[in-house]
Amino acid sequence: MTEESCQRTMDVQPGHCWRCERVLPQHSVPCKFCRMAKYCSTPCRNRDKARHRSVECKLYADKPCTTCSRIVPKDVSECAGCNNSRYCNKECQLKDWPAHKKTCKTVKTGITQLSVILAQRNSNLATNTRVADLNHYFGSTMAEDFLKLVSNELSDEMASENLTRDFHVLSAGCGDLRSTVLTAGSLPDEYQGKLHITLNDFDPFVMARNVLFLFTLVRFADTDYIASSLTTIWYSLHISKREYDLIKTSLDELIQMSAQQLHDATQGLVKLLDEDLRYLSQVWKRWQSLECQRDKKTSINLRKQRKRVFKPDKVREGVSIYLARLSPEDQKANKEWFEHALFVPTQTVKKEDLPFDNPTLTGRGAHFEIVCDITAPEDCEFVYCIKESSFPFAVWDCLRVRENTPGSHSSPMVMYHKYVTNLLQKVKSLILQGRLLIRVSLANCLDFPNHHQTLNMPNYDRIFTSNLADYVGFAKLLQTMKPLLDASNSYSAIVTESMNWIEIVPGADIKKAVQTPEFAQCNQALYLDTGKEVDGFNGIREYYDNTICFLMYLRADLMAGGFGIPSLKEVPSFESVKKYHGLQMRDFRKGQNKLVPFQYRVNARDLTMLNGYGRTVEWYLPQSDAQL
Ligand SMILES: C[S@@+](CC[C@H](N)C(=O)[O-])C[C@H]1O[C@@H](n2cnc3c(N)ncnc32)[C@H](O)[C@@H]1O
Ligand SMILES: [Zn+2]
Ligand SMILES: [Zn+2]
Ligand SMILES: [Zn+2]
Ligand SMILES: [Zn+2]
Repeated sequence: MTEESCQRTMDVQPGHCWRCERVLPQHSVPCKFCRMAKYCSTPCRNRDKARHRSVECKLYADKPCTTCSRIVPKDVSECAGCNNSRYCNKECQLKDWPAHKKTCKTVKTGITQLSVILAQRNSNLATNTRVADLNHYFGSTMAEDFLKLVSNELSDEMASENLTRDFHVLSAGCGDLRSTVLTAGSLPDEYQGKLHITLNDFDPFVMARNVLFLFTLVRFADTDYIASSLTTIWYSLHISKREYDLIKTSLDELIQMSAQQLHDATQGLVKLLDEDLRYLSQVWKRWQSLECQRDKKTSINLRKQRKRVFKPDKVREGVSIYLARLSPEDQKANKEWFEHALFVPTQTVKKEDLPFDNPTLTGRGAHFEIVCDITAPEDCEFVYCIKESSFPFAVWDCLRVRENTPGSHSSPMVMYHKYVTNLLQKVKSLILQGRLLIRVSLANCLDFPNHHQTLNMPNYDRIFTSNLADYVGFAKLLQTMKPLLDASNSYSAIVTESMNWIEIVPGADIKKAVQTPEFAQCNQALYLDTGKEVDGFNGIREYYDNTICFLMYLRADLMAGGFGIPSLKEVPSFESVKKYHGLQMRDFRKGQNKLVPFQYRVNARDLTMLNGYGRTVEWYLPQSDAQL
C-alpha cells in the first residue's frame, strides 16, 4: 500500500484535500500536529483548523503525558482503566495514580451503570420479535457503498484477480435499496464479476417495496424511462399516470407469482422463500386496492395525510433551521420542496401532470419508540408513513451527488433526481448482464444464520448491519455474524453503526450541556469554521469531542451481553473490546475506516441533513490485510 492511501480523513476520499476535497498536489501541506491531515494549500489548512483540531486532530496527534507534559506517542501510553490519561512511563503513571484514581474509578463505575441499562434494553428487545417503527421507505442514514473496491480488494497486488471474482454482501436491517443501488452503481468499469447481495429486514413493508422496485426495473427494462420513473416512485408524493400504471401492472403480476416464477421472471435477479413472498403479497394487495386517483372523493389523499405529519411546531422549526444552512437558491427551492414533496426530473411541473397519489408511500402507521409486535400487514390500516425527519436529500451524500452530477441544475431536487436515475441506469445494465443477484430474507437478523444455510450461498465479503447494534447490542450481533464472514478474503468485514448511544451515555450530547465551557467552545468553533453564529441544529456536534463517551458505550454494551450471552463480571478494557469474540476492531483513533468513516463531517454537507450522532465501527477477522 502506498503511503498516500493510508492517509485519509474520517471522511474525505483518499488522496484529496481534507478541506476542499480537491485532488492533492504532489507536495501537499500536512497538519503540523497529527501529520495525518493533508491539504492542497496553506489557506485550506488554515481554514480547516477549527474543524480539524476540535476532534480529529485530538484523536490522531501525540499527546502530552498527564504527569510531566512530555509528548508521548498516542498508542503506547494510555491508562487502560479510563482511556483518558496518558503517561510516558510506569513511573509517571504511578506518580499520578493518587490524583488520577478517583476520576479513573468514576469512568469504570459509569461503564458498569451503563451496562445495567443496556442489559435491560437488550432483554426488552429479546421478548419482542418486531419493533413498531415507522417504515424505512427512505431510510435515515446516507447510502453507503458496501464494497469500496478501489480502496480495498483493488488496492493491492491481487487487484487483477479480484477484477473477475464475485463478491457477496449481506445487508442486515437493510431498509430501502439505496445502498444496494449505490454499491452496484459504484462498481469500477474494469470490474467484471458478479455482485451477490442478500437483503435481510424483517419489515414486510420495506421489503415489499424493495422487491416491487427490482421487479419493475426488470419488467420494464426495455423502456428508456424506467430508471427515471422509479426514482420518482421512490420519493414523490404524487406521480403521473404512466408511473401509476407501472406500479399497478407490476403489482397485478407480482401477486400472482410463486417465488420460483418471480425468480424466472426477473432472470434470476430476485430469490426468496415462498413463505416470505406470501407475506409480501399482503402488502402488494393492499397497495393495489388503494384509490390513488387524486380527483376521486374516496382517494387516499396523501397530501392531507402528510400535512398532519408536518404540523407540529417542532417539525417546522427543524425545517427552518435546515433551510437556513442552504445557499439562497437552494433555500428557495427546498422550501418549496417541503410544501409539494414531489420528486420529479424537472422543476416546472403542472398539477394535472401528476394525477395520482403514490401508494408505495403507505403502510402501517406507527408511533415511534412504542415497542410492540406488529400484526400481519393485511390487518393494518395503510396510511402515509414517511417520518418527517427522513427525506430524499438526507439519504444521498450531497458531496457525491454534486461530484457525480456536474453542470447546473434548476434545483437540488432536479440534481438528486438525475443522480439517482443515473445510478439506477447502471443497476439496470448490470442486471441485464446477469451480474447482480439479490436474495431476500425476512428473517429476524439473529435467526439469519439458519436462513443463510438454506440460501446455498458462500460466506460474505461484507456484512453491513445498519444500526442493529442499537437494537440487539454488539455482543449478540457480532457473535451471530462472525461465522458468516468469508475467512478467505482478508478484506472481509462486519460494519456496525451506532446512533442511539448518544441518548444513552451521559455527557455524550453537547446539546444537553448548554451552560458548559465546552458548549461555548463548540459554538466558537462553529463560527470560525462556517461563519455562522447560531446552529440550533446538528452542526455543533461536529466540534464536540465525545470519543471517550463512545468508548464507554462500547465497553458497557459488550459488558451487558444479552440474548443469552451473560453479562461480564468485570468492566472490559478497550483493548479487549478491540479483540471481542476473536474479531479485530479497527481502532478508529489510530487509522481510518476503510468502508464507512467512523464519523461523517456534518457542516461540509449542507443539503444532507446529518444529525452528527452516527459512529461506524469495522470488525475484521484476525490478521486481515485490511487491518494493516
Ligand atoms: C435498524 S433500522 C434503522 C434505519 C436504517 N438506518 C435505515 O436508514 O434504513 C433498519 C432496519 O432494520 C430493521 N430491523 C430492526 N430490527 C431487526 C431485526 N432484529 N432483524 C431484521 N431487521 C431488523 C428495521 O425493520 C429497519 O428497516
Ligand atoms: Zn484544499
Ligand atoms: Zn492534525
Ligand atoms: Zn511523563
Ligand atoms: Zn485512568
